[in-house]
Amino acid sequence: MNILLTGGAGYIGSHTLIELISEHHSVVVVDNLSNSNKESLTRVEQITGVKIPFYEADIRDRDALEVVFSAHNFDCCIHFAGLKAVGDSVTHPWEYYDNNIGGTLVLVDVMRKHGCKNIIFSSSATVYGEPSMIPITEECPKGHCTNPYGWTKWMIEEILTDLHTADVKKDDSNPWNVVLLRYFNPIGAHKSGLIGENPNGIPTNLMPYITQVAVGKLDKLHVYGNDYNTPDGTGVRDYIHVVDLARGHVKALQAIENNCGIAVYNLGTGKGYSVLDVVHAFEEANSVQIPYVIEQRRPGDVGICYSASDKAFIELGWKAHYDIVDMCRDSWKWQKMNPNGYESL
Ligand code: NAD
Ligand code: WQD
Repeated sequence: MNILLTGGAGYIGSHTLIELISEHHSVVVVDNLSNSNKESLTRVEQITGVKIPFYEADIRDRDALEVVFSAHNFDCCIHFAGLKAVGDSVTHPWEYYDNNIGGTLVLVDVMRKHGCKNIIFSSSATVYGEPSMIPITEECPKGHCTNPYGWTKWMIEEILTDLHTADVKKDDSNPWNVVLLRYFNPIGAHKSGLIGENPNGIPTNLMPYITQVAVGKLDKLHVYGNDYNTPDGTGVRDYIHVVDLARGHVKALQAIENNCGIAVYNLGTGKGYSVLDVVHAFEEANSVQIPYVIEQRRPGDVGICYSASDKAFIELGWKAHYDIVDMCRDSWKWQKMNPNGYESL
């Protein structure tokens, strides 16, 4: 298929590029590089041996998107572009609503004008809020998000669903097909160590924080709470290797090809690991020590969040293959080879 990747220079996008190319799809990337570095695409080219057509553009820029859509005939868009820092979204809500929702509105408008009405959207387990069931199936009702970032995902899901519903009601001969992929906690990196997660400033997510402690950039990990109702009291999450996640997008293209209408899939492993499980797995996998201190709970955190991932397996034949040791090993390899991310050149 001919596929547009918005946000394709980012962490998940760059890994997905490799998996799409290895399955012989043609890809074009649009990214404004607001949270990424063009070097990620150079590295993908190095890994795959394929030149990636790239447009440095903002998806809110209608004219720029017109140029892209006039030059290519896309079968599908995989829409990664968005701002994703939870805390930042609390202090800059307008920027998050404008970028994520405003950007998506312009994107889908240009898409439909050019007859491309197939989209795979990067949603998040965050839409479940405080989940009403564990493990979380796709039947679990969407919940109350604790931050603007989460609400952007929640609302974009609604917007895309409404587009499809309206087409069905008016018997449109080319209705929208929408796949909503709800990611759990992506970590890890490509096995080459050439691409990986490249956070700006001090990381807020667990794994990049751990790797920066391991590489000596930060002195210790702050564990947010050990009084949750979990086996060791620390928060439990469903960590998924980013390469498994990337392959989930390739599988999701099947749903598009089968005219799925609206399809929602969790992308997780179905297993929960506590913060201390991850620390210990990292120490064992990589023979390094991660000093830590226990702190108060982080506001907005839930105690336990892990997926039921059967639906993606039954309907798409997708399941995660890498385990927590693989994730820790590959995260560390990326950090060791690139102590300052893509800026270390
Ligand atoms: P990322 O920041 O590495 O990638 C997002 C990319 O989008 C970046 O390259 C950024 O420059 C680009 N971008 C942002 N706004 C843009 C705009 N207006 N126009 C063009 N490009 C723009 O993040 P990621 O971890 O790769 O996440 C990809 C998607 O998955 C995001 O939508 C994110 O919200 C979602 N998601 C991420 C996680 C996670 O933990 N990483 C979990 C659930 C969902
Ligand atoms: C994991 C666990 C923390 C950092 C966030 C977003 C979510 C999604 C993925 C995009 C929790 C604990 C963390 C640290 C810690 N993103 N922790 N010390 O919060 O599950 O999800 O990223 O959609 O929307 O909310 O991930 O990696 O921040 O935290 O103890 O320095 O690690 O309390 O239990 P989270 P995380």
